[in-house]
Order: sequence, then structure tokens, then C-alpha cells
Amino acid sequence: MRINTGAALSPSDVVGRGRVIAQLWRDLDNQSVVLNAERRMGKTSLIKKMCAESPTDVIALYRDLENIQTPEAFLEAILADLDEWLSTQRRAKEWLWNIWGAIGGTQVRSIGKLPPAQQRDWELSLKTILAETAQALDGRLVFFWDEIPLMLDNMKRGKNGAAVAMQVLSALRAIRHDDKAKSIRMVFTGSIGMHHILTELRGKGLNHPAINDMLSKLLPPLSEEDAVNLVTALLAGANIPVSGSKAQEIAASVDNIPFYIQHLATGVRDHQSGADAALVNIPELRYKLLYSPQDPLYLRHYRERIEIYYAKKEQETAFHILDALAHEQPLLADTLLNRVKLKAQKTKELSLFEILELLEQDLYIERSARGYQFQRNFIRDAWKALRNIA
Ligand SMILES: Nc1ncnc2c1ncn2[C@@H]1O[C@H](COP(=O)(O)OP(=O)(O)OP(=O)(O)O)[C@@H](O)[C@H]1O
Ligand SMILES: [Mg+2]
Repeated sequence: MRINTGAALSPSDVVGRGRVIAQLWRDLDNQSVVLNAERRMGKTSLIKKMCAESPTDVIALYRDLENIQTPEAFLEAILADLDEWLSTQRRAKEWLWNIWGAIGGTQVRSIGKLPPAQQRDWELSLKTILAETAQALDGRLVFFWDEIPLMLDNMKRGKNGAAVAMQVLSALRAIRHDDKAKSIRMVFTGSIGMHHILTELRGKGLNHPAINDMLSKLLPPLSEEDAVNLVTALLAGANIPVSGSKAQEIAASVDNIPFYIQHLATGVRDHQSGADAALVNIPELRYKLLYSPQDPLYLRHYRERIEIYYAKKEQETAFHILDALAHEQPLLADTLLNRVKLKAQKTKELSLFEILELLEQDLYIERSARGYQFQRNFIRDAWKALRNIA
């Protein structure tokens, strides 16, 4: 298997994930899903694989929504995806264009466009297209919408942006509850959590139960067995034999996260003293990845996300919490509060709890009876590197 350090992964190169995928299809029998995970955990690769290898009675459509700015463009994208699927299946599609025409849409060089007069009615059009499509097609229709939080974020910036973003979420929820659209399921995922968008919308007084009917799922790292298989396959692809225990050491050193495994395998393959020398000192390779000024693992994201998505007054507390846990963990809430107060005397218990909750949602930390700790050792070490903590 060829090493891939972050480019699009073809479905056949997605190692493991069989059980997660089977479980997700079972979940989708019931309900729509929000798929959460840390950055670069493999969300996009996973859902693209699901679309490429969907069960025969499922129509699975993938769409990256990152560059969609308006509800009209979203609707046009949905139409384009349906149209393309009908084409690849060599199925009749006049019915789709007829519905589109009936709601006032036009067809420009086989691309659907809503003329300005209809743009105000996008919500009704969206509901109509989806309900009618569900009636026209047999089987389950699943929309895999990657980067939907970024689309909502784009919409939020426009005129009346927050209200428009919430209106989109509310329209999608209405579709999920429409008897005529019972066969439709949605999968929301993306590199920033939906909760950031919802918190911002709530802050503007928009309190809609936007996604509370969806199942919230967490995409974990690879299982230990799959992570070891990935290490072995990548190194075998570079003609580097590796023992089972060495493969396990490599996988465990990055918490079985496939993106980091790909980078460690590159480090072994390209080591200046040869692969054998590299394999003897995996901690050194790991250290290089953590401290590289080029930041090939995009670990700065863990600091930048707080700077971008946390309110100013929350940022400082979040940094103090993570710094304290980088020094020592697990820590009980009381101890943590005292440690944070050493840096910021006026910190209140309530705001500490709120920020702990945010950090849990963003998958930095987890809580057990023993207290709070980083969810992953590798991310704890990344935080130490980012903050110059010895
Ligand atoms: N199952 C896997 N097998 C092998 N490599 C994987 C697997 N999953 C992820 N990777 C590696 O991680 C990289 C990132 O995967 P992907 O783009 O799917 O993650 P993501 O969670 O969508 O990231 P982002 O949060 O940036 O959108 C891939 O390019 C590949 O190097
Ligand atoms: Mg992605």
C-alpha cells in the first residue's frame, strides 16, 4: 500500500473501518446522523467509502459543502447530485427537471438555476424537491454532507446571515420529519463541530432544536488491529519489513490515528540513516513530528481552533486548563480550578465548568471519576509542544 500523507484517499486504501461502517448503516436505518471527530481522523475518507460501496438498496450521495455560500446554491447542489446519480444509473430524469420547472427553476446548460424571483422561495423548493424525490425513488436516500458547518458559517456572514443559516437547519429538520420524505437520511460531518455554529446562532437569540433528532456519533481512531495492519501495509509498500511488536509500537505512539501513522511511516521510509535506524528510535521520529516548524500534522489547529471559535474571555481559561493538564493529569475539578486560579485569580467555578464542557465537546479532554485528562496522549504532547511546556 502506498503512503498517503493527507491527500484524498481512494476507498480501497481506507484501512479498517468495516465495523464502524456497518454500524453506521444500521444507525441510518433508523435515523440521520451527525458524525463527530477530531481533525484529520478520517471522516471524509470514511463517508466517501460508504458512498462508493453503499448497499444495493441505498442511494448514497456525497457532497463537500465547504464552498456553498447561499441556500439557493445548496439547493442547486442537491439537484446536481441527484441529476448526476440518475445519469450514472442511466435512469430517467425528466421527472426531476419537471419538479424543478414546477417550482420555477430553470435549466442552464443542464445545470439547475433558480432565477432571482424564486430565490426567496428556496425553503419551499428545497422541501418540495426532497419530498418528491423520496416519493419517486425506491430505497433509502442518504445525503452525506461533508463540511456542512462551514457552509452554515459562510451563510452566517451574509445579509441576515444567522437567521438564514438557522432557516436552512430548520428546513432540513422539517424534511426529516415529513412523512413524504421518510426514506431520506442525512449525515452531517465536517472539520469543525456543529456545536460551534449552534452556539453562535443561539448567542444571536436563535434557539431552534436544529439537530436534536439526529444521532450524534463519534468516529474513533482505528482499532489496534487495524492500526497495526495499516503500519505493516504502508511499510511493506515501501519494502520495509516490520515485526508485529514494532508495528504495534508505531501505531500506539500516535494513538492509532491513521493520519499520524501515515506520517510516521513516511518518517521511517525517508530517514537519513535508513529505515532500520529509524525503526530503532520511534520516539525520536515522533518527537520530530510534534516539534516540526512545518507542522505537517497541522497540530497548530488545536491552538487556533480555540483562538477562532472560543469567545475572548473563554480563550484564556481554556489555555490555562489545557496547560494545567499538560503538566499533570488527571485532575479533579477542584484542583483544576485552583491551578487555573494561580494564573487567573478571578476565574469562577461556573465559567470553568462551561469551558471544560466545550473542551470535552471539542475532544481535547475527557472526564472520569479520577478527574479530567487529555483524551489522547499524542494531543497532550502536541499541546506541550505548542505551548513550550517541558
Ligand atoms: N482508514 C484510513 N486508512 C488509511 N489512512 C487513513 C484512514 N483514514 C484517514 N487516513 C489518513 O488521514 C488523512 C485524512 O483523512 P480524511 O481527509 O478522511 O480526514 P478528515 O477527518 O475528513 O479530515 P478533516 O477534519 O481535515 O476534514 C488521509 O489523507 C489519510 O492520510
Ligand atoms: Mg474532511
